[in-house]
Amino acid sequence: MTEKIAPTEVAIDPLLAGRWSPRAISNTAVSREQLHSVLEAARWAPSSYNMQPWRFVVFDRNHDQAAFDKAFATLVPFNQGWNANVPVLVCVLAKTLTAKGDVNRTAPYDAGAAAFSLALQAHSLGLVAHQMSGFDTNAFRETFSPPDDVEVIAMISLGHPGDPATLDDALRERELAQRARVAISEIAFDGAWDKAFK
Ligand SMILES: Cc1cc2nc3c(=O)[nH]c(=O)nc-3n(C[C@H](O)[C@H](O)[C@H](O)COP(=O)(O)O)c2cc1C
Repeated sequence: MTEKIAPTEVAIDPLLAGRWSPRAISNTAVSREQLHSVLEAARWAPSSYNMQPWRFVVFDRNHDQAAFDKAFATLVPFNQGWNANVPVLVCVLAKTLTAKGDVNRTAPYDAGAAAFSLALQAHSLGLVAHQMSGFDTNAFRETFSPPDDVEVIAMISLGHPGDPATLDDALRERELAQRARVAISEIAFDGAWDKAFK
């Protein structure tokens, strides 16, 4: 995988600094063992009241091509382009109601934590995980019929690192560009809204 270590303000764990979202992905299959491993990481994410509202639908091209093709068809054209060879798509969903039928307002937050655990575990295995919102959630719902109280949130491309040379010029440039973030002082405040944390 192309290394793109985050240029951090202070040192952070190498797993966090090294994870990024590549688009060059090879068509090599992801093993069922590797899929179990990333789902296990997701399962151990924290959640409000330990409700574990996250749900995942795994679409493994080498396991169920027909289901994979249906999931792939929901991606927006841009994402279909760079995912042409991806072996696995994982849809992230969240159960939005509690067992009592109340709204669980942190369900998408918890599902995001689980998705990121999945992404970190993938990175530690040397796999690529690239989250996407660019897909048609209504089409996904029509095709796969999750229950009404389950929100369709994101799709994750999962595979082995590919060769950036296979990307078109614009995407290759983005693939090789340094990762960037706004400063901590712009996103973290010190005891009062808008008082920058320094
Ligand atoms: C919820 C979510 C949705 C995203 N949607 C897309 C997408 O549809 N297509 C895409 O190419 N990248 C998508 N990304 C990847 C982001 O562009 C990427 O995470 C961001 O640019 C930061 O780069 P990094 O993950 O390499 O640090 C998405 C990321 C997240 C977390």
